[in-house]
Amino acid sequence: MPDPCTCGQPVEIVTDILRVSERLNDLKDVDAILDRILTESRRLSGADAGTIFLLKDDALHFSYVHNDTLFRDEANKHVYMTMTVDVNEHSIVGYVAKTGELLAIDDAYDLDPALPFSFNRSFDERTGYRTRSILTIPVKSSQARIVGVMQLINSKDASGASGPFSDEARTYLPLLANNASVAIERGIMTRELILRMMQMAEMRDPSETGAHVQRVGAYSAEIYDRWARTRGIDRKEIKRYRDLLRVAAMLHDVGKVGVSDLILKKPGKLTDEEFATMKLHTVNGARLFLNATSELDAMSREIALNHHEKWNGKGYPGAIPDLGAEDVALGVPKRGEEIPLAARFVALADVFDALCSRRSYKAEWSDEKILDLLREEKGEHFDPEVVDAFLDIFDVITAIREKFREEGGVRHDEIIK
Ligand code: C2E
Ligand code: SIN
Ligand code: SIN
Ligand code: FE
Ligand code: FE
Repeated sequence: MPDPCTCGQPVEIVTDILRVSERLNDLKDVDAILDRILTESRRLSGADAGTIFLLKDDALHFSYVHNDTLFRDEANKHVYMTMTVDVNEHSIVGYVAKTGELLAIDDAYDLDPALPFSFNRSFDERTGYRTRSILTIPVKSSQARIVGVMQLINSKDASGASGPFSDEARTYLPLLANNASVAIERGIMTRELILRMMQMAEMRDPSETGAHVQRVGAYSAEIYDRWARTRGIDRKEIKRYRDLLRVAAMLHDVGKVGVSDLILKKPGKLTDEEFATMKLHTVNGARLFLNATSELDAMSREIALNHHEKWNGKGYPGAIPDLGAEDVALGVPKRGEEIPLAARFVALADVFDALCSRRSYKAEWSDEKILDLLREEKGEHFDPEVVDAFLDIFDVITAIREKFREEGGVRHDEIIK
């Protein structure tokens, strides 16, 4: 459980909530925003677990989860689970979305049979968890439109004993949820913008890239997370860096906007000359962030430029003395730790994803063949520590792949799945 809230006076609680709402603006990606909303709501209410569903196309989409009993702050595949619940009175979250009213339940297994909804025990049955108290809160925009539903589970007091949610939690958490809606919608819009931008750049091959971009972003963030924990990096720093990385990694191939369709969609192997042109997508991408002012811009530039460098010094584009020069030639390849860290995560994420996918020039590979290649390339193409982190969380990686599947190339606007 997060540190219990030591506040208690209404004015302190409200000030705390306003401070939390303000700090949500530091975060870029919607997952990082949901993660912090759950952390703070659980701190304020003492909840052991929590889930957020977001509303899209008239259904509630499971979007984030915490559970201290089952997976305490660990890289976990449950975050990438796909589940949708209809907005109607048959489920708890559906009921709350439909009525727009908060609902407090003291024991999920002892509901009055006259109530229209029932508790869905499938999660408990799968995991052995025992849900008791549930506080389900609508997340509303300023126009009272429903953005989603937050569900807090098993309120615990300072001694760890569980009980019903307090009156304070019932009173003040709706305020936090509603303040958070602005940040959530902004986070969704950030992903939408990136996906549209990448659609222009690369998605002239429409069957592929929205999902590819989302996967590479999520893989990179999770590989970094594991790598950073192994090194004992501070939790706050991990959350900050992984939020930037998730977004910046999605932009790794933005420089493909300058590559002609003839090369991009060529069904067969590229000639040397075509491949030489293709290699410039790294430099061209980096140039878009040349006048980088924010840390996100700087990371996006490093990733765009360096995601095809190799640990053994056989990648491209190499050191470029002046990125702004009119004619840029490939330089001496970077190697090892000369390659910026963020790009080393994306290099692995991108190749893994390319191998899992069918391309206009290749079929997809089996997992076995892919894992063999990654092990062979450990210390060659890839930073060995990055390969180790990746292999450690392969269950999370496959959950991400499952969540952001190609769907016949039908839609590119699915941010919440
Ligand atoms: P991509 O398709 O997204 O591939 C990204 C990286 O994944 C490649 O970087 C490469 O390191 C790895 N990769 C992809 N397919 C294979 C494969 O079959 N075997 C192995 N061992 N590795 C693979 P790379 O090679 O620098 O290529 C960068 C981009 O250039 C590719 O992005 C793709 O858009 C294009 N490209 C590369 N080779 C060809 C080709 O033969 N034909 C066509 N049409 N495009 C190619
Ligand atoms: C419900 O609230 O009944 C559906 C979602 C869940 O399983 O928690
Ligand atoms: C997406 O994940 O954004 C869309 C999926 C696709 O491009 O097939
Ligand atoms: Fe690339
Ligand atoms: Fe790529």
